[in-house]
Amino acid sequence: MLGAGYVGLVTGACFAELGHEVVIRDVLPERIEQLRAGEVPIYEPGLDEVLERNGDRLRFTLDVHEAVDGADFLFIAVGTPPTYSGDADLSAVWSVVDELPPELPGQPLVVMKSTVPVGTGEHVRARLDARGLTGVGYVSNPEFLAEGSAVADFMSPDRIVVGSFASEDADRVVELYKGVETEIVRTDVASAELVKLAANAFLSTRISFINEIANVCELVGADVVDVAHGVGLDRRLGPHFLRAGVGFGGSCFPKDITALKQLAGNSGYPFLLLQAVWEVNELQKRRVVAKLQKHLGSLRGRTVALLGLAFKPNTDDMREAPSRVIAYRLLAEGAEVRAWDPIARPDDLHGVELSDSVVDAVRGADAAVIVTEWPELRELATPEVREAMAQPLIVDGRNMLDPVATRAAGFLYEGIGRPRHASPAEPPARDRDRELSR
Ligand code: UGA
Repeated sequence: MLGAGYVGLVTGACFAELGHEVVIRDVLPERIEQLRAGEVPIYEPGLDEVLERNGDRLRFTLDVHEAVDGADFLFIAVGTPPTYSGDADLSAVWSVVDELPPELPGQPLVVMKSTVPVGTGEHVRARLDARGLTGVGYVSNPEFLAEGSAVADFMSPDRIVVGSFASEDADRVVELYKGVETEIVRTDVASAELVKLAANAFLSTRISFINEIANVCELVGADVVDVAHGVGLDRRLGPHFLRAGVGFGGSCFPKDITALKQLAGNSGYPFLLLQAVWEVNELQKRRVVAKLQKHLGSLRGRTVALLGLAFKPNTDDMREAPSRVIAYRLLAEGAEVRAWDPIARPDDLHGVELSDSVVDAVRGADAAVIVTEWPELRELATPEVREAMAQPLIVDGRNMLDPVATRAAGFLYEGIGRPRHASPAEPPARDRDRELSR
């Protein structure tokens, strides 16, 4: 497993759980030292148990030779972040390919786990051939692990996609997953590469779609939670990824939409829909500010508590987290920003004061904004929190709380796309909308 990042570590640990011998190699000495010492460098529920249980089948190394010597499969699981142009940065992929020793005994297969632009497989094949590694096969086997549920996603996936140039190579990768029951999608390399990008782009599209429906709900007096439920019961649509909120983040959706948009554009096709998906998401993060202004007027000198910082619960991952945009928008409006998260402790949110508990974060605050749906926030509307706040305003950016119960507990409540339960003290819908669209 070349790469001990999120994907490499989870995939390597899970292959060991399936009974394989796994060597995980990374270029970061401190990461390898940590792993050898039994420390897990990322937060992923259940991963430490899998690593511990399979300790005798797992090795960690800095040395590429040690990793590839005698290996049947050479998984590439390195980062492919976007560059300034929106193209994927494949430098880590190329350095791994170029590092492979010129002689690889047996007939190992290079298996691509990293998310790469369509066409990468062809390029890697050509580069392997140019280096004389013609006997080394190539397979695209994209990962569909979601952070927070990655171990379960590996063990019970919705599908395993295997794209190959030669069907015998695909057979070998399929065999490797023996013990995992699911549908196998066998296809060519380019199609496998595109399945990954298209799946993430489509999931993001659903989120931006429901966020726009939520925004319409606010104007017409409908409740997006009920609308999404009613829509999702249609078996052709299904209930998933229809939760309206403050927008999507993470290391995957923003990167993969950009990569697919860029790939299409570079190939001569302007992918307009993805442009809109992206912009809706940017606006969605910023709408929190208008919701606060609706109740507080100017935010200058006001204190706002952000509850949850990670891009979603069960992870400490802050990459492209909506909390980043919300925090800096609020600071730009002159607000004092405090933040609480049970595990994310970013040291680069300059100007944001990190609190150790929810009550510390909301003490003296003019508003609390739920940014990440951490389960403990379900109990937010308590007398203790109400007493602690200077003004009991909750903006529920994940529609976690019951609007009626929260208002009954003495809070002013703003959800996303949930105007129906507005308290009588609030202005009529049309006045509110004008304020929100200002
Ligand atoms: C996503 C995909 O779900 C995985 O299948 C994929 O393998 C992974 O990207 C990847 O490419 O590596 P992940 O980014 O870990 O996984 O997280 P998701 O659970 O998909 O959530 C992404 C974002 O969408 C989060 O910010 C979440 O809050 C938001 N979201 C999700 C919504 O706003 N509404 C929803 O209904 C669902």
